Amino acid sequence: MKAVLCREHGPPESLVVDEVPEPTAAAGQVVVDVRACGVNFPDVLVIENKYQFKPALPFSPGGEVSGVVRECGSGVEGVSVGDRVLASCGMGGFSERVVIQASQAIRIPDAMPFDEAAAFLMTYGTSHYALVDRGVLKAGETLLVLGAAGGVGLAAVEIGKVLGAHVIAAASSAEKLEVCREHGADSIIHYDDEDLKARIKELTEGRGVDVIYDPVGGDYAEPALRAMAWGGRYLVIGFAAGEIPRVPLNLTLLKSCSIVGVFWGAFVGRDPGQHSQNVAELLSWYEKGELRPHVSARYPFEQVAQALRDLSERRVRGKVILVPPAGA
Ligand SMILES: NC(=O)c1ccc[n+]([C@@H]2O[C@H](COP(=O)([O-])OP(=O)(O)OC[C@H]3O[C@@H](n4cnc5c(N)ncnc54)[C@H](OP(=O)(O)O)[C@@H]3O)[C@@H](O)[C@H]2O)c1
Repeated sequence: MKAVLCREHGPPESLVVDEVPEPTAAAGQVVVDVRACGVNFPDVLVIENKYQFKPALPFSPGGEVSGVVRECGSGVEGVSVGDRVLASCGMGGFSERVVIQASQAIRIPDAMPFDEAAAFLMTYGTSHYALVDRGVLKAGETLLVLGAAGGVGLAAVEIGKVLGAHVIAAASSAEKLEVCREHGADSIIHYDDEDLKARIKELTEGRGVDVIYDPVGGDYAEPALRAMAWGGRYLVIGFAAGEIPRVPLNLTLLKSCSIVGVFWGAFVGRDPGQHSQNVAELLSWYEKGELRPHVSARYPFEQVAQALRDLSERRVRGKVILVPPAGA
């Protein structure tokens, strides 16, 4: 079978497509015929050896897939050959087939296309955990989403609307902000063109925002925090801009607000029961048409470098997907 391989650490162009041995399912595992692979920020970092998790070379990147169960190992219950599933697989998703623990396979609705399924778990899972479990966002509150047209950002916009919040989307171009509008944002801020703090204050009539969802970091963090409402929650999701912000802690005192860390991957491992409930809720919202994963580009394995460049060079709206030769 074919897989995208990282043989030596380096830029996306150093990845190769090559033949690798077929995986087999040990006890408790299943082999999935991959139909689509989600491309995520850790894929960019891990091939350059800049990610917290450092797999041995050579390896295939790719942390989430959708596809059809091809083989079940002994003792597998609840999943059968032929089931349509999505799964978080850690690594190895950029392959024609991948082996996962059966407990990681999540059956998907019949009407859910494979590319949307491969774009679902990490983005919506992270944003649900962030907004519901960590941020305790309530109906009627105001939510500011930075990097709102990106993968986790757009999921946060949609979930914010489902939860009844007033959602302000901030992003770097008119095209990206248009996508945010299409996915439900009530107000928009072009943060490379406008004064972020002043515009938030204007939109909230001086009150500030109750919850800030920040997957970007860099220079946006401090002006956003300065526009936080009394008792607000600042959700630390990631640092796509590369810079880890250092904010004056006196701001938290003055606003009686909280800075709240969000580490979805660790949460999934530590609290699988709550994670399963969150995923079930997300899939029920999807089936009601309240969540609409935005897949802006689909690439074959041979164009994996382009997919990763789109992400690292800030071109992605929603998600990009990698499609194996016999894929979606
Ligand atoms: N904490 C967790 O559990 C968790 C889970 C998943 C992801 N994450 C993290 O969340 C971050 C976003 O992930 P994602 O999958 O949503 O990525 P993404 O789709 O690429 O979105 C990131 C957004 O950041 C903005 N950005 C600003 N400066 C950038 C730069 N120099 N390079 C790239 N993007 C830049 C871009 O929006 P504008 O151009 O509009 O500014 C982009 O849309 C990553 O750091 C990822 O590791 C964390």
